[in-house]
Amino acid sequence: MSCVSREDLQSEWLALAPAWIKEAREGRNPTRNGLLDEPMLAACGDVRGLRVLDCGCGEGRFCRILAERGADYVLGLDLCPPMIEAAQALQGDRDEYRVADVQDLSFLADESFDLAVSYLNQCDLPDFEANTREVWRVLKKGGRFVIANLHPMRSAGGGWHRTPDGKKQHVILDNYFDEGERRWKMMGVDFTNFHRTLSTYIQTFLNEGFVLEGLIEPTVSDERLAEYPELDDEQRVPNFIIYQLLKETK
Ligand SMILES: C[S@@+](CC[C@H](N)C(=O)[O-])C[C@H]1O[C@@H](n2cnc3c(N)ncnc32)[C@H](O)[C@@H]1O
Repeated sequence: MSCVSREDLQSEWLALAPAWIKEAREGRNPTRNGLLDEPMLAACGDVRGLRVLDCGCGEGRFCRILAERGADYVLGLDLCPPMIEAAQALQGDRDEYRVADVQDLSFLADESFDLAVSYLNQCDLPDFEANTREVWRVLKKGGRFVIANLHPMRSAGGGWHRTPDGKKQHVILDNYFDEGERRWKMMGVDFTNFHRTLSTYIQTFLNEGFVLEGLIEPTVSDERLAEYPELDDEQRVPNFIIYQLLKETK
């Protein structure tokens, strides 16, 4: 369990929010546009007519994409008020946003969503088990939970080992079995996220009642790399992972 308080975690995101929102709205966003959106959307499948929950929606970009693709209703939840205010500023008639902690969805009814997504949010949660359990409860039978996360081999810690002239040689993997907090710097802000092993994630999904339908380790094609040269690491190491979970109908 975490030593960092909920308030500290929330204030880290408060400090990150202005740069994050600017980057999402104005930036090239290679990780999302060039790498993760396509497999995330494929894993979500046909969203027309669905009721969708987005856990940790940030400024709402993926909610807007799902609404544009025909979802009937998309609810985006985020703990960080400026993210939600930014999302609400672009809100349409089928998406809605609320400040909420996705580890406690007690304000949502059982079996009230067809699809839930978590786009780089579970690594931010001290208690991802609670989020998994809550999402299972609010999903209808036959509903799916699609989760993009940091790959456990990269969230463990250890950066690139470089030659003296700075050339990337290989990624260091260490402390893999030491689960818990990790401190990083992103956009100039110190922040905390949480590492767990691959077996902890998958075993938790299964223990909470989900079936694992698919597991994707996104990489980039040479054509995509020509468009997004920033993604060169992605042809060498698995930085991200997507879990496709099903709540069975029985
Ligand atoms: C890496 S960002 C991803 C945002 C968005 N899903 C995207 O892909 O652009 C993680 C988001 O999770 C939110 N977050 C962190 N802890 C949370 C919690 N306990 N409940 C709800 N949102 C949380 C942060 O405020 C932040 O907006």
